[in-house]
Amino acid sequence: MAFQLNDHVTYVGKIDWELRNFHGEEYSTHRGSSYNSYLVRDEKTVLIDTVWAPYAKEFVEKLKLEIDLKEIDYIVVNHGEIDHSGALPELLKEIPDTPIYCTANAVKSLKGHYHQDWNFKTVKTGDRLSLGNKELIFVEMAMMHWPDTMGCFLTGDNILFSNDVFGQHYASEVMYNDLVDEGELYQEALKYYANIITPFSKIADSKLKEIAKMNLPIQMICPSHGIIWRDNPMQIVETYAKWANNYQEDQVTILYDTMWNGTRRMAEAIAEGIRETDPAVVVKLYNMGRSDHTDVMAEVFKSKAIVVGSATVNKGILTSIAGMLEEIHGMSYKNKKAVAFGTYGWSGESVKIITERLAASGLTVIHEGLKAMWNPDDAAIEACKRMGEEVAKSL
Ligand code: FEO
Repeated sequence: MAFQLNDHVTYVGKIDWELRNFHGEEYSTHRGSSYNSYLVRDEKTVLIDTVWAPYAKEFVEKLKLEIDLKEIDYIVVNHGEIDHSGALPELLKEIPDTPIYCTANAVKSLKGHYHQDWNFKTVKTGDRLSLGNKELIFVEMAMMHWPDTMGCFLTGDNILFSNDVFGQHYASEVMYNDLVDEGELYQEALKYYANIITPFSKIADSKLKEIAKMNLPIQMICPSHGIIWRDNPMQIVETYAKWANNYQEDQVTILYDTMWNGTRRMAEAIAEGIRETDPAVVVKLYNMGRSDHTDVMAEVFKSKAIVVGSATVNKGILTSIAGMLEEIHGMSYKNKKAVAFGTYGWSGESVKIITERLAASGLTVIHEGLKAMWNPDDAAIEACKRMGEEVAKSL
């Protein structure tokens, strides 16, 4: 799909309505995604990013309908990950000597993926590439989210091409933020931040400040996934600044897995205790054996506290909870509270294992945890409610 952003800039990316999983099978993309690529024409012509490898041939064929490939003077690779660089091999078969502008780290990642010695031109923050009347100003954004990540700013049109940053996995036939459902857009933008950018929030915070100091008169933000921010584009920059600073809502998320519903009954009693203590707190429960882990990570991201439960099995915990704890460990959360619970039959290690893992992940454990033998009786359910009360009071 191609469309004009203005007289000089053409969208030449791929809208992928079919995509349901990304990063292998890791990240659910219920609303599809897009791999955004942009063609900028001035006295010189530059192609900014490409698309994921399965769409490489389609991308090159459609690009030829827009321009004679030999008229592309430069290629900018803002980030070497396959979803954006995947069409380079196909494209460079036709224009092999075209200079590729990217960071030094992107040279490493591109060579690592494709094992080609292309015509790389490395750039740093503040470097400029003249296109004639306009310039591209490069902005390194290392670890937002790969070491090679960068953006570039087109003077004159005042467009920031931000690659993954400010993106969303969201397919649409109308690619502007003022034309799509705002609730859907922000749900996908937050899920993206929560799952992709959160581990690097500290870096993101300082990078956003550094970009602000560059005083770029940003009038449009074109990410490499999803919708283009043209109506008040700084809204997503300001939202990122909030998300990067230990963002929290009045929410507690309870994640659990259960074998014979005992741990589920504990989860529900804890929720009741929270609700009765503070009705203003949003409480959400997820059986992780049945829930999408990237959706739930977005809920964890928003939460002031999480409550994590598993039955004990084979002296350990259920695999869905083990997986969630692994993801939580990688997020480097700050200022988030946590507590564990679970049922057991004879040995009962789950609460200790979960508690230790939560503490090792930097969460503040606010209670020693609660375990109930076999199916919780009335006293155990009452203890769960009291623990819920303690959680609510700790927020
Ligand atoms: Fe969309 Fe990090 O690639």
